[in-house]
Amino acid sequence: MARLGTSPEPSHAGGDPSAPQHVAIIMDGNGRWAKARGLPRTAGHERGVEALRRTVEAAGDLGIRYLTVFSFSTENWRRPAAEVNTLFGLLKAYVQRDLSRLQQDGVRVRVIGQREGLPPDIAELVDRAERETATNSKFHLTIAFNYGARNEILRATQVYARAIAAGEVTGELTDAGFEQYLDTKDLPDPDLVIRTSGEYRISNFLLWQAAYAELLFVDVLWPDFNKSHLESAISRYHERERRFGAVTPGAT
Ligand code: IPE
Ligand code: IPE
Ligand code: MG
Repeated sequence: MARLGTSPEPSHAGGDPSAPQHVAIIMDGNGRWAKARGLPRTAGHERGVEALRRTVEAAGDLGIRYLTVFSFSTENWRRPAAEVNTLFGLLKAYVQRDLSRLQQDGVRVRVIGQREGLPPDIAELVDRAERETATNSKFHLTIAFNYGARNEILRATQVYARAIAAGEVTGELTDAGFEQYLDTKDLPDPDLVIRTSGEYRISNFLLWQAAYAELLFVDVLWPDFNKSHLESAISRYHERERRFGAVTPGAT
């Protein structure tokens, strides 16, 4: 079906033409996974990183070109400091351990979210990962870390307002124009947003970009997520009819 709206046309270069181009995942349920086993929440987060590794590989195999994962929200600062520290440590360890492998596999790594407020060592590591993979284009892994959609939209609006005040921008603001100020400026909109763990909410993830995404809520807890869950999510995506506000051809 023709794709309407402001998103770039899917290119599918090197991918499976029937796969959704961009899948975004709210990786939820680490704490419950651990609790069910009598383990500390941190054990769930550790196993969550393994699920992320599996999912990056599976997404590539299944012809998805863009994978965006929600890893730490601006609201997750409300958790105990020890848990926040664990989550920061796991991001650091993931990038340190996997960067060369991702680089070899032609993965472009991006981290979206507010950079300000991240510990300097993590901010530096994230900058390095982005810089070193900047010319890769086979697969795009975007990690939403210290990310909240409202925060992203407000930051974008501030930069835009300053550019107007400085006389750097003139003319009418369009959807496509505004998107240039978002953290996701080089990414197509997600086609499919999956949330694990049986919660039916968006929790401040990609509020602008997911305007016409298909939403899928699955019961599996994130540390258990594997390739077969992703395959089944893609099958369910194919059962959907995306209309983008138009009418189905032949329906009138
Ligand atoms: C997802 O798992 C990871 C983050 C939100 C950082 P949770 O830690 O939210 O796990 P539950 O929802 O408590 O089970
Ligand atoms: C959403 O999960 C954020 C991430 C997965 C990083 P939460 O566990 O923080 O969401 P709520 O609090 O249940 O809405
Ligand atoms: Mg949760």
